[in-house]
Amino acid sequence: MPETARPAGKPVIYSGIQPSGTLTIGNYIGSLSRFKQLEADFDCLFCVVDMHAITVRQDPAQLRGKINELAALYLAVGLDPGNTILYCQSHVPAHAELAWVLDCFTYMGELQRMTQFKDKSARHEDNINAGLFTYPVLMAADILLYQTSAVPVGADQKQHLEIARDIAIRFNNIYGNVFVVPEPYIPKIGAKILSLQDPSRKMSKSDPEDTFIGMLDPPEVIRRKMKRAVTDSGAEVRFDPDGKPGVSNLITMLSILTGRTIASVEGDYVGKGYGALKADAAEACVETLAPIQAEHRRWLADLTELNRVLKDGADRASRIAARTMGKVRRKVGLAPLN
Ligand code: TYM
Repeated sequence: MPETARPAGKPVIYSGIQPSGTLTIGNYIGSLSRFKQLEADFDCLFCVVDMHAITVRQDPAQLRGKINELAALYLAVGLDPGNTILYCQSHVPAHAELAWVLDCFTYMGELQRMTQFKDKSARHEDNINAGLFTYPVLMAADILLYQTSAVPVGADQKQHLEIARDIAIRFNNIYGNVFVVPEPYIPKIGAKILSLQDPSRKMSKSDPEDTFIGMLDPPEVIRRKMKRAVTDSGAEVRFDPDGKPGVSNLITMLSILTGRTIASVEGDYVGKGYGALKADAAEACVETLAPIQAEHRRWLADLTELNRVLKDGADRASRIAARTMGKVRRKVGLAPLN
């Protein structure tokens, strides 16, 4: 009988978010907002990737706070922890274990080509550590441990997904069908929300405050940041990502957050200026985020329950991960556990 890597059941969806900085509306649009609708048709695992976060220096107390904050945000968008597995990466040691094995099947040259590594080493010149370099291998381990079919992420993670696929295919070619080869699941619109201050760059939680809308920003802060968003010297509200990146970014956000097409949003601003577009984009953010912020506060007020959810998620994730790890250990010839 041919070996199949995929266990019986629904296809698996896996994604992770780093608990570093404040989540932005870009994180929400590119990833978090898409998770809820996947719950019905897939077995979903969503992870707080705290081990990835320590590839840059973190204040320990602050990091612990950010981990709870992110877990509460996952729950605040309505994910059902009775169904979806929500957990912290460091609670499941199999991630580190598989990452080591996969390190031995990944080439230096592949990792040297990663644009995120190049960006981060330029930004953290004093701390170009080995973890930053092998970051994509840990990410591949996250995904491959659970026999994942699809990974919902923003466009910036595409290269990491490609290397995860390459590693899986290489491993399978040597040892048989051990891993499902995951597909990236990147949205057509909203995969790269841009910085409010420099629309040639993506919006990022590690950039200065005024460049992003934070998911926990109060309404007046959202309105102020939007008002100051960089557009261009023209006056026409038109969707043209190359020629008018700032304006197109605002149209994209408004379109996704209100569930309307780009053309219909564009049509509303004929004869109106950028001020009206900015004000409406701000209101769309405020209205989307208000109920999430309320739920977020509710979850953070009950850390006992939040920690119970994470513990339960880690227990369930560990059981799945152990099956893959057992197979990997056997295939590569590591010493048997018993
Ligand atoms: P992270 O924490 O940087 O971002 C989390 C998710 O948000 C998406 N994203 C964006 N989408 C649209 N516009 C933006 N401006 C924007 N900024 C961020 C990211 O693409 C991502 O989907 N390496 C990952 C975390 C990770 C992971 C994984 C993801 C670790 N293991 C396994 C998937 C599967 C990261 O740093 O994401």
